[in-house]
Amino acid sequence: MRVASYLIVFFLLAAVSGCGSPAAEEQAEVTASAEDTSAMQLYKKNCMSCHGNDLSGRVGPSLQQAGSRLTEEQIGDIIKAGARGMPGYEKSLKTEEISQLAKWLAAKKE
Ligand code: HEC
Repeated sequence: MRVASYLIVFFLLAAVSGCGSPAAEEQAEVTASAEDTSAMQLYKKNCMSCHGNDLSGRVGPSLQQAGSRLTEEQIGDIIKAGARGMPGYEKSLKTEEISQLAKWLAAKKE
């Protein structure tokens, strides 16, 4: 009985969330959020100590609106080369990790 009602709830939720959105769009959403998750993990490991656990800044400035001031490319350059008081990550992170972080931060806008 219990299992059956969980199943019903599951199918209802699936029906509601699937409603109206084409399969391709859902696929894109899944990929984007997986990328976001790994960017977040990179952030936690490398950047959080200075930029805060919610991007609000500590030693370094807030990055909550990084994307409204800087382009993805500029952010990538800062991560690679570092800045005043910030280490460069050219050697410690892979190029694709840097671009993942840059893309993620460039999407942080008001
Ligand atoms: C040791 C502390 C520290 C660490 C670790 C650190 N940063 Fe920074 N970050 C700073 C400081 C300080 C600045 C300000 C530099 C300046 O004023 O020129 C800064 C600036 C920035 C900026 C430019 C922000 C702006 O509005 O101009 C970005 C983007 C950035 N950091 C991203 C990152 C990312 C991504 C990481 C992790 C890969 C990281 N930082 C790790 C200290 C740090």
